[in-house]
Amino acid sequence: MPTLAINGGDPIRTKPFPAWPVLDTADTKAFESIYNSRRWGVRGSNVAEFAKQFAEFQGANYGVCVNSGTTALYVALKTAGVGPDDEVITTPYTFQATIVAILMTHAKPVFVDTAPDSFLMDVTKIQDAITDKTKAILPVHIAGYPADLDALVDIAERHNLKLIEDCAQAHGAEWRGKGVGSWGHFGCFSFQTSKNLCAGEGGIVLTNDRELYERLYALHNCGRTPPDAEFGNIEPFGSNFRMTEWQAAILLSRLKRLEDETNYRHMNMRWLDGWFGEIPGIRVTRLDPRATRCGSHGYKAIFDSEEFEGISRKTFLDAIRAEGIPMGYWYTTPMYRASFLKSNLFGQDFDYSNVHCPETEKICQTGLALSQNILLGTEEDMEDIIKATVKIRRNVGELKDG
Ligand SMILES: Cc1ncc(COP(=O)(O)O)c(C=O)c1O
Repeated sequence: MPTLAINGGDPIRTKPFPAWPVLDTADTKAFESIYNSRRWGVRGSNVAEFAKQFAEFQGANYGVCVNSGTTALYVALKTAGVGPDDEVITTPYTFQATIVAILMTHAKPVFVDTAPDSFLMDVTKIQDAITDKTKAILPVHIAGYPADLDALVDIAERHNLKLIEDCAQAHGAEWRGKGVGSWGHFGCFSFQTSKNLCAGEGGIVLTNDRELYERLYALHNCGRTPPDAEFGNIEPFGSNFRMTEWQAAILLSRLKRLEDETNYRHMNMRWLDGWFGEIPGIRVTRLDPRATRCGSHGYKAIFDSEEFEGISRKTFLDAIRAEGIPMGYWYTTPMYRASFLKSNLFGQDFDYSNVHCPETEKICQTGLALSQNILLGTEEDMEDIIKATVKIRRNVGELKDG
């Protein structure tokens, strides 16, 4: 008699996990108030209010709201002075937007491998990647796991480089009790639908520096100065990268829940870490003790095929999905192999054929992921994830790679 659901046995669960985005009537009211105000764009006050509240939430002095996370990165890079012939050190384990934003400035992305058994940039390898052309370091707090900000701030200071944190997946994440995005010169967030704080689309750049803030502001708003400008007409050039009042109103409403939701996801993440840590073959992602709160834009672990009698990650994932657990993986291609780098889209002609980051290659093949909405589930939901994994391990003899 087969036991595993993939072979006809009963699945561990048939119930869905919490849907995303979570709906709340407070959001509807916020939306209606914008509609009725007739202030849908620049004349409203919600964008400025959200920028202030979100900057405070992450521990930064200023925020400039923009229309996407990609724009946030682009505007930050431009404000940092990054342009043609410059190099930006970054990670190959990220969403393509990180790299595309660098390409849009006509600079060159330089890739540093991830640390062993981690999804984060290996800070010990940054020094060797710095050249005369390096202008900035762009780490990514993948899935809300904070990168080593102590080391990153130190390297950036010693080499006079701009530090731009890609926090698109890290709302609410904290390093030594202080929000990510407030450590570097710039912190860039996305509010696209899948993100832990979302409004369909949108983004923000945080900074602690008044002058950088005024430059960011002008760049995102057709060269205009902020209402309380101290530096005058500091950056006459700019474009329209603005956020609308609709987005800001929804974000203000949802921001009220972000603290509780982040703590809840973090709690479930640590609970899963505890139990997965007991199952040979599932390696838990180490959370640095200085990472006092994970943004938990999903859950990440590493699959060790040898402990599962040599079955592939795909076979394991097919089996766990049949048990009712929507587990998957994230990035399967290190960014230096992304086909768009060869398309010469932005006039650059880069050759990455000699770039090889072995640790990133490994996690692209072995990484496991659960999406962030699953971490909003109940204790029983979390138990089902563990039960399904244990069930597969016990009955792995029933599985064969297809
Ligand atoms: C790591 C990372 N950086 C940047 C972005 C870009 O954000 P957006 O989709 O809002 O442009 C994303 C979005 O998925 C992301 O995951």
